[in-house]
Amino acid sequence: MLLTIWKRIREDLANARDHDPAARGDLENAIVYSGLHAIWAHRVSHWLWLRGARGLARILSQLTRFFTGIEIHPGATIGRRFFIDHGMGIVIGETAEIGDGVMLYHGVTLGGQVLTQTKRHPTIGNNVTIGAGAKVLGPIYIGEGSAVGANAVVTKDVPPNSIAIGIPATTRPRHKDECIKLVDPDYYEI
Ligand SMILES: CC(C)(COP(=O)(O)OP(=O)(O)OC[C@H]1O[C@@H](n2cnc3c(N)ncnc32)[C@H](O)[C@@H]1OP(=O)(O)O)[C@@H](O)C(=O)NCCC(=O)NCCS
Repeated sequence: MLLTIWKRIREDLANARDHDPAARGDLENAIVYSGLHAIWAHRVSHWLWLRGARGLARILSQLTRFFTGIEIHPGATIGRRFFIDHGMGIVIGETAEIGDGVMLYHGVTLGGQVLTQTKRHPTIGNNVTIGAGAKVLGPIYIGEGSAVGANAVVTKDVPPNSIAIGIPATTRPRHKDECIKLVDPDYYEI
């Protein structure tokens, strides 16, 4: 188990280097990156949450918020190689599900729109990037390989390999040359 934890930490550090051109040595990154501190603390609080120590899990999550400005509910499910650049002002709700290789910038909200205790937060596919200040609201799905632009407000599903920008967000294929082929109005909203 200790070996697995060590491997995951090494993977997180390598991931930070891959995603941030400003990242330098692993030791320095482990000390200064609040995004890394937040995901490491979340793994502990999620572990506690799943084993019924929910009060303790919430306390740890709120302490982490105090130190990093990143609030991740302990119930949220997060995959591997998750990276938050800059941190601060991030909220990830209880029923959010995040795939592998996802990256968030500061100010992102993965929030709900209803106050019922149901699945009310987004599901984020693998290798999605969500730009600074974007709000992704409701039990919607952001398809694998997509990007959400800075400050977008997304309340509807986004297909895989797409870009969602604006308020309310409109969606287009990620690669511009695909626009000519993809004329399905369900896929390409204007
Ligand atoms: C959405 C995004 C992924 C699009 O990248 P892209 O495909 O390379 O898009 P382009 O830069 O070619 O821009 C295409 C068009 O979308 C517009 N656009 C780009 N990002 C936008 C955004 N977030 N909101 C509104 N419009 C946006 C551009 O102005 C351009 O408009 P034009 O065709 O009228 O000139 C990117 O712009 C973005 O927002 N990334 C997040 C980056 C971030 O949060 N950085 C924080 C670092 S601290």
